[in-house]
Amino acid sequence: MTAIGILGTGRVGTNLAGRLSAAGHHITLGHRSPQDAATRTTGLAPVPRIAFADHRTTAGTADIVINATPGDSSLDRLTALRTELAGKILIDVSNATRDAADGLPADLCHPGSSLAEKLQAALPDTHVVKTLNTMLFTVMTAPESLTTPPTAYLSGDDENAKKTVAGLLGDLGWQPEQVEDLGDITTARATEAMILVVPHVLRRHGFKPFAVSLAR
Ligand SMILES: NC(=O)c1ccc[n+]([C@@H]2O[C@H](COP(=O)([O-])OP(=O)(O)OC[C@H]3O[C@@H](n4cnc5c(N)ncnc54)[C@H](OP(=O)(O)O)[C@@H]3O)[C@@H](O)[C@H]2O)c1
Repeated sequence: MTAIGILGTGRVGTNLAGRLSAAGHHITLGHRSPQDAATRTTGLAPVPRIAFADHRTTAGTADIVINATPGDSSLDRLTALRTELAGKILIDVSNATRDAADGLPADLCHPGSSLAEKLQAALPDTHVVKTLNTMLFTVMTAPESLTTPPTAYLSGDDENAKKTVAGLLGDLGWQPEQVEDLGDITTARATEAMILVVPHVLRRHGFKPFAVSLAR
């Protein structure tokens, strides 16, 4: 059992919390108002292995931290938690985009780089691993739900950290052959750019589960 802190109690955060808790991990969900979150996410509140706390406590008490907050403001938010994140794995599943008028992603916040690279530079004592940002949140915890086997990409500088994250992907239902380790953290700029295809797919097909995947 690993103590996992998830920053963000939205669609991604609560979805990951439910499945990782069911896999036996102890989850703390980080929210700006932990009391509100506990009552709002009623489907999760009775689960004994899920607690609610503020972001600083969540990051400070976990062994592994997942960023499931808006990507466009994540750099400042996570840099402020530098002490709490030191020596830990930070799994970044966010997309740092500027949105179009319809609320869908239109452009990257960090062209020529990536949020993951910026986070790694700002948090040198933390092992940043980018993954799961290339699919609808439902697929993150149910890869078997798609008719085409999806891909979960991994980007990160530390091999052991990526192995640990690959293990957590297994707990979420991902088969080893579905996990594609692209290399160091600079490879995240490729998977972060994949978000640019998503709004066009969503406008044509609606919010049906999808993943931007490799076919061989
Ligand atoms: N939805 C998807 O299918 C999907 C897929 C891949 C990647 N992602 C990425 O995953 C991240 C989360 O997406 P989501 O769909 O779960 O979003 P969401 O449902 O809007 O939830 C976002 C969460 O972040 C928190 N938050 C918002 N602004 C904040 C701030 N300024 N400071 C601290 N916390 C803040 C919210 O807290 P409050 O409850 O306090 O407002 C909420 O818990 C995003 O970066 C997104 O790009 C999403």
